Amino acid sequence: MTQVVRACSDASKAVVGTAVRDLLVEVDVEFLPYLSARTDTLSMKPGSESTEPGLPAYFEAMRLESWLIALRGESVVGLISFITDNQDAALAAWSPSLYATTVAVSRRTRRAGVGTALYNELKEVAHEQVVPFLTTRTWTTNDDHLRFLLASGFRRVIEVPGDRAPGIGTVYLAYPVGHLRC
Ligand SMILES: CC(C)(COP(=O)(O)OP(=O)(O)OC[C@H]1O[C@@H](n2cnc3c(N)ncnc32)[C@H](O)[C@@H]1OP(=O)(O)O)[C@@H](O)C(=O)NCCC(=O)NCCS
Repeated sequence: MTQVVRACSDASKAVVGTAVRDLLVEVDVEFLPYLSARTDTLSMKPGSESTEPGLPAYFEAMRLESWLIALRGESVVGLISFITDNQDAALAAWSPSLYATTVAVSRRTRRAGVGTALYNELKEVAHEQVVPFLTTRTWTTNDDHLRFLLASGFRRVIEVPGDRAPGIGTVYLAYPVGHLRC
């Protein structure tokens, strides 16, 4: 049974911080570029190689954002980090939005609805905050995430070819929450 909790305050993030770092380390090299090679959650330019464990630069940037944490029992099995003030000009037509900067589920609990539960909670947050869109992006060859997002109601809105690696670009996706801001 998956439970999704919100961690927005420093105190609530501190409670799950170690487990969140462990999950980031587990999925690090599945991302393109690797999370450990990034200087923050938005830039895709690799930073200087870090030899410190725990992806310090990425984790410190993520700590400034809001988190949704998927729990199975006491274990952290998935997370979404998100921001509300994304300034990416590419997404101007789909703003304001809740922009998911990091999405990850532990390998041992994939294809069991954890990702779906996390995105459902993000949709709930958007409803509560009367934010008209959810947005995110991923690399063009991330078939698992793309198939999953499209099945969840996201639409591909922009594609940037070849900005991640030769032949691998970025897809931006948006989900219309269903209401406009007053
Ligand atoms: C993308 C990711 C978050 C999906 O998480 P997940 O928990 O596996 O997602 P879900 O289980 O909710 O859905 C995934 C698939 O499993 C299926 N599924 C869900 N519950 C299921 C169940 N009980 N039994 C069988 N299949 C199930 C879903 O229908 C979905 O199928 P689809 O891919 O054909 O659409 C996960 O694969 C991941 O962390 N990937 C690595 C990191 C990553 O790429 N992050 C995004 C970077 S931008």
